[in-house]
Amino acid sequence: MNKDDLIKGLNEDLAAELGTVIRYTYQAGKCYGPQGAEVRELLRKDAEDELGHAAFLTDVILDLGGEPTTTPKSFDKPGDLKGMLSVNLAMEQQDVEHYMAHAALAEALKLPELKIKLEEMAADEAGHARELRRLLKGL
Ligand SMILES: [Fe+2]
Ligand SMILES: [Fe+2]
Repeated sequence: MNKDDLIKGLNEDLAAELGTVIRYTYQAGKCYGPQGAEVRELLRKDAEDELGHAAFLTDVILDLGGEPTTTPKSFDKPGDLKGMLSVNLAMEQQDVEHYMAHAALAEALKLPELKIKLEEMAADEAGHARELRRLLKGL
C-alpha cells in the first residue's frame, strides 16, 4: 500500500460523499406529510455533515498530489420512506468500513492527522447510521 492507493481510496470516499449529499437532498424533497417531517429534518442536517466530509477529502486529495473526483457515486431511488432509510443505513455502514480501512492506511503511511480525521468521520457515519436505525423502528 502506498500514497497512490490512499488517494484512490479517498477519491472513492469523496464520490460516496458527493452522492450522499445529492441523495439526502433528493430524498428530503420526497419526504411528505407528518410521517416524513422528522426524516426530512434529519436528512437535511446530515447532508451538511456529508458536504463537510466532501470538502475535507477534496483538500486532502489535493494536498497528497491527487485530483479530486467530481463524479458522485450513483444510488437506488426507492419511492417509500422505509426503502429510502434502508438504502441510507446500508450506505452509511459501508462508509464506516471504508473510513476505518483508510484510517489504517493513513496510519501505516505515517499521516496522523488524516488517520484521526478519518476515524472521526467514521464516527460521524456511525452516528448517522444509529439515527437511521431509530427512525426505521418507527416505520
Ligand atoms: Fe460523510
Ligand atoms: Fe453519513
